[in-house]
Amino acid sequence: MDDSATRLRRRTGEFIATKEHRRFVEFANAVRREAFIGLCFGPAGVGKTLSARRYAHWDAAEEFFDDWGVRRDEERQIGASLARSRTIFYTPAVKVTYAKLVADLDQLLIRADILIDDQVREGIVVSRGRRLHHVQLIVIDEAERLSGPALEDLRDRFDRRPIGLLLIGMPGLEKRFAAFPQLYSRIGFAHQYRPLTDEELAFVLARHWRRLGLTLDLDDFTDAQAIAAISRITRGNFRLLHRLFTQVARIMKINDLTVITTDVIEAARSTLVIGTE
Ligand SMILES: Nc1ncnc2c1ncn2[C@@H]1O[C@H](COP(=O)(O)OP(=O)(O)OP(=O)(O)O)[C@@H](O)[C@H]1O
Ligand SMILES: [Mg+2]
Repeated sequence: MDDSATRLRRRTGEFIATKEHRRFVEFANAVRREAFIGLCFGPAGVGKTLSARRYAHWDAAEEFFDDWGVRRDEERQIGASLARSRTIFYTPAVKVTYAKLVADLDQLLIRADILIDDQVREGIVVSRGRRLHHVQLIVIDEAERLSGPALEDLRDRFDRRPIGLLLIGMPGLEKRFAAFPQLYSRIGFAHQYRPLTDEELAFVLARHWRRLGLTLDLDDFTDAQAIAAISRITRGNFRLLHRLFTQVARIMKINDLTVITTDVIEAARSTLVIGTE
């Protein structure tokens, strides 16, 4: 049986450092550097969560935090990544209670601070009683799940400690925060996460083609038509693209095909349930 990390990777596919991802990194760096509150919003499935997790090196760190106390070989490596990103990533559960949110965040902050401390101290012994403040950015995904008191707690933390706060959600997120004037007035930046442009879609598709053992040729009529169909169906949405290609791969294999035509794309599309109209 595959381990859960492998299964998750299959669900999300291999990460591609897109232009939108680089824009996100710049944005997160600015929020962290200036210790501001930043909002990042964009439609479902464009890649917000993946970008943020990547930024925080969270795939490795999360597992480690979940099994805290179990010593692992990768401990130093994870600490080194965290020492670079200085970021924790948190996804509140649906209807998370205020008490749970506070407890979770405190635990994450303390654990991350300890791990980073082991990296940055470099042999200088400091008193263990001192509170460490190494984390510089808290990223909260699905931020629309936060209640009024939770938002108030975050604002308070933000005021007490020079820490950046990056809230991720769907378009319209900023309107929800407008109901909390103290939090709202502290928002320094808003960032829109956009779908793939056609140019970048072609780049991403070249990788999908390669994975199927094919070569994408933009000057080839069949390939150009297939790209146009994919662009129309997915509108540059990463999640749709990933789902569509899972089906394309399946159809190619069972029919023993070697060319991705618009017929293949249409057949793949017809098996997807939603979001392609
Ligand atoms: N940079 C990327 N490289 C490769 N695949 C990606 C990338 N970004 C997103 N994807 C694909 O798109 C899917 C959706 O991405 P993600 O979960 O980050 O979207 P989201 O914007 O957070 O959506 P939601 O608003 O629904 O939470 C991923 O599971 C993955 O398959
Ligand atoms: Mg998401």
